Amino acid sequence: MALIPEQVITDVADRADILRTVGGYVTLKRAGTVHKGLCPFHQEKTPSFIVTASRGTFKCFGCGASGTIFGFLMQIEGLNFPEAVRRVAAEVGVEIPDTREGGLDASERDARQKRRDAYIAVLTHAQEWFADNLWRDDDSPARRYLASRGVDEETAKIFGLGYAPDTWTGLVDHMRRRKISPEACEEAGLATLGQRGHRDRFRGRIVFPVYDRWGKVVAFGGRILDPDAKAPKYLNSPETAFYTKGSEVFGLATTKQEIRRAEHAVLVEGNFDVIVLYAKGVKNAVAPMGTAMTEGQTRLLGRFSKQVYVAFDGDKAGIAAVRRSLPILLGQEFDARVITMPMGDDPDSYIRREGLEAFQAQLGRAQPIVQWVLDRVFARVDGAPVEERVEALREAGEVLGHVRERVTWRHYAGEVARRLELNPGDIDSYLKQPDRLAAGEPVAARDETPLPNLEAACVQVLSLLPERLVSFAEQDSYQQLFTDERLVYLIERAHAYRKLHPDRVPPMAVLAEVVAESQGDPHFTRQITQLLEDAEEKFPADRLQQVWGDTVTRLQRDWLDREQHLVDEAVRTVEPGSDEYLVVIQRLKALNEARARLDIRLERKRM
Ligand code: UTP
Ligand code: MN
Repeated sequence: MALIPEQVITDVADRADILRTVGGYVTLKRAGTVHKGLCPFHQEKTPSFIVTASRGTFKCFGCGASGTIFGFLMQIEGLNFPEAVRRVAAEVGVEIPDTREGGLDASERDARQKRRDAYIAVLTHAQEWFADNLWRDDDSPARRYLASRGVDEETAKIFGLGYAPDTWTGLVDHMRRRKISPEACEEAGLATLGQRGHRDRFRGRIVFPVYDRWGKVVAFGGRILDPDAKAPKYLNSPETAFYTKGSEVFGLATTKQEIRRAEHAVLVEGNFDVIVLYAKGVKNAVAPMGTAMTEGQTRLLGRFSKQVYVAFDGDKAGIAAVRRSLPILLGQEFDARVITMPMGDDPDSYIRREGLEAFQAQLGRAQPIVQWVLDRVFARVDGAPVEERVEALREAGEVLGHVRERVTWRHYAGEVARRLELNPGDIDSYLKQPDRLAAGEPVAARDETPLPNLEAACVQVLSLLPERLVSFAEQDSYQQLFTDERLVYLIERAHAYRKLHPDRVPPMAVLAEVVAESQGDPHFTRQITQLLEDAEEKFPADRLQQVWGDTVTRLQRDWLDREQHLVDEAVRTVEPGSDEYLVVIQRLKALNEARARLDIRLERKRM
């Protein structure tokens, strides 16, 4: 992977304005040396979200979210680290040097980027025109239609809805006046070329823009107004050079922050479901736009929350769609629950008839997706002859093949036997075990490795005593004082930074992010940020030098103990008189000398 040079990252961080960026999402109030606000990552009524601008970090004392400006954007916008760096770089005007990426060289990539920008510009123009058409008249069929479906003006505007009039070349003509050729419209999926020239693709339809992660319009969906028209109810943008079906999730650009805050998403089938739910107060719904959720869509959604309530239509197609979603959702370790819509309802019709509270009550009654799907399999063969129940057993076995957690798997296996009234001892060969279950590895065992206390304290003090950093990191044996490699890397980075900018405080949290990124260890930054937040309180300025001395001494003692242990071990196992033996003896001597030196130093200090 092409990495952004670390120097560029710290340069971007130096220029970034965390208060402004975070302030775009959270109302911040000054509180002493920090700023406070309501955490955007969980629900709260009193502010526990703190931004420390001097250090460039944020931390929520409620939910524990923390990090730098990059971490903030990663969490709130679902970006990865390089994407977040690029986003801030663009804001502060730092140029990211070209690196090879995706097999394209820089000029090819530039050219593609330009074409993509042009494509987006065309779609954005089209969206403006669609919106003009919708809002121009107070009373038009399109506006009456939206109103009749319970979509108020504000909601329609939030989702960027528009109207494509029922004419052949309205858009093409308009675009021509804007110096955008019919061919460009065609390439952007807005026009089709027929015998009589270019014609608008979307006609007589409410248009729903589809936004990408950057909030740019990359496609449209269009719903027909006229209920008697022979055309399909929905028409979507075709795939283009810059848009593939199943790559975006409808509504996510608008609802992602609420998804993050509420810590769950509501997954529905239709665009209208997303919008009507929003209008009625459920502001965290998304839809896959006519396909079953793809791997890519699921991954995108998972950046914001891994808890999803599936609220598909209450018909056969809806049930089938839940079945199809199960492997993908469980494969990506989602906690997926299913809401049962009454037959013939979709979330849109349900919430309009029954209201917000009834819908929320449904969320509360949602069942785990495996249970929900199995229940439907069981219900079908309730009381049926054994042949049919064995058929159902096969189907249940398929479903179980996606349950990775051992105890959960066993639970469902037991339920399958009971509900199908089969002998538990006979059915095992029908039930698939996922690979990971077979290997006996519990899924949740991916916890963060905590930092050793003392070593972490050393970093904490260094963050307050940056002038110590250079001499400390230049001692050739300092690495041996650490058992945690991540902290060694971090000190190396901070040292390099200090060499480059002798007058500046190394941005430890940013450097920790760089380390975390290079090691694929997302928890590391969080741990460091937490430490930094506590450092000032824990180590008062007037005692800092002394604390530093004590910390280093204790690190040395710890190292001596570790070394002693290893040497003792070696003395016991190595053949006396062998070459190795001599080496071990040397090591023992060196160890004793080191211990003596340390003791002498401490002795002197005491005098
Ligand atoms: P629905 O028929 O459930 O759509 O199809 P809906 O949004 O609830 O529409 P209303 O309530 O009848 O107005 C679910 C989704 O499948 C896609 C659309 O994205 C739609 O929102 N779809 C549906 C198509 O792409 N083409 C179609 O012909 C129908
Ligand atoms: Mn509908």
